[in-house]
Amino acid sequence: MTTSPANSPVNTASSHSTSPVSAASSGSFWSDMKILWHMIVRQGRGQTHEERLEDFYKGQASGYDSFRKRLLHGKKDLFDQLPAPPGGVWVDLGAGTGENAENWGERLNEFSNVYLVDLSSSLLKVAQARIEQRGWQNVKAIHHDATTFLPPEGMADVVTFSYSLTMIPDWHKAVDQAIRMLKPGGVLGIVDFYVSRKYPPEGNVRHVWSTRHFWQIWFATDNVFLSGDHLPYLQSHLETVVLSERRGKVPYMPFVRAPHYVYVGRKPVV
Ligand SMILES: C[S@@+](CC[C@H](N)C(=O)[O-])C[C@H]1O[C@@H](n2cnc3c(N)ncnc32)[C@H](O)[C@@H]1O
Repeated sequence: MTTSPANSPVNTASSHSTSPVSAASSGSFWSDMKILWHMIVRQGRGQTHEERLEDFYKGQASGYDSFRKRLLHGKKDLFDQLPAPPGGVWVDLGAGTGENAENWGERLNEFSNVYLVDLSSSLLKVAQARIEQRGWQNVKAIHHDATTFLPPEGMADVVTFSYSLTMIPDWHKAVDQAIRMLKPGGVLGIVDFYVSRKYPPEGNVRHVWSTRHFWQIWFATDNVFLSGDHLPYLQSHLETVVLSERRGKVPYMPFVRAPHYVYVGRKPVV
C-alpha cells in the first residue's frame, strides 16, 4: 500500500450492512478478547511501519473505540482545554477512527477544515464512515504519514496527537512537522502514555525505576514506545499552557495504572 498525497481523501466507496462506526463503538467480552489477542499475540508484523500498523489494526477496527475508551484516558479533557477558533484549521495526526472529532461537540463546526490523518486504512474507513454518518462537511479523512503531512492551507490553528506520538518511530520528525504547520500562536495538544526520565525537568513528575521499565517493556510488544523525552522536547519547543501528569486504568489489569499526560503548548509568536 502506498501513501496517498496530502489532501487526498479516503475512498468513500463503502456498502456496509452494519455501520463500521457502531461496530467500532460496540464492545463485548468477545470483541475485547479479539483485541487482546491482536495486542498480546499478533502484535503487528510487516516490513514497513505502515504494514505493521495495518497488520496490528485490521482485526481491531470493530470494537476499537469501546476498548480504547477504557485504555486511552484524558482525551475529552484535552479537547475541553483546546481552542476552536472560528474559520480555523484543525489537524489530528494519527487520528485512527476519528473518534476525537466527537470530543469537540458543537465546537467542531467552528473549524473551516479538519484533517484526520492516519496510515491505517482499516481505521480510516471507520473515520470516513463516521464523517458520512454525522454529515460533517468540514472534515476529511486523509491517508498520509504524520511526519510529512501538511494541510492544503499550508498552516493549522490546532494540531493534536492523541495516543499516536508513542506509535510514530520518528516522533521528533512528527513533532517538528506539527510545529512547522502551526500558525504563530497556534496550539499543539497531546495526550499519550509516557514514562518520566530518571531525572525529569524541575516541576515534572518522577517515576520510580519499576514504573519506568515495566510500562516501556509492556507497551513495546505492540510497537508503542513510551519515552521520557517527549515531554521535555515539547516543553523546550513550545510555551506550555497545560501540563497534567496522571495515571489511568488498564482493562483486565486491576492492580496497575499506566502513566499518561495531557499537554497543551503554544507556538511562540516571534
Ligand atoms: C493508539 S492509536 C490512537 C488513535 C486515535 N488518535 C485515538 O485517540 O483513538 C495510534 C494511531 O496512530 C497511527 N499512526 C502511527 N504512526 C503513524 C504515522 N507515521 N502517520 C500517521 N498515523 C500514524 C496509527 O495508525 C493509529 O491509528
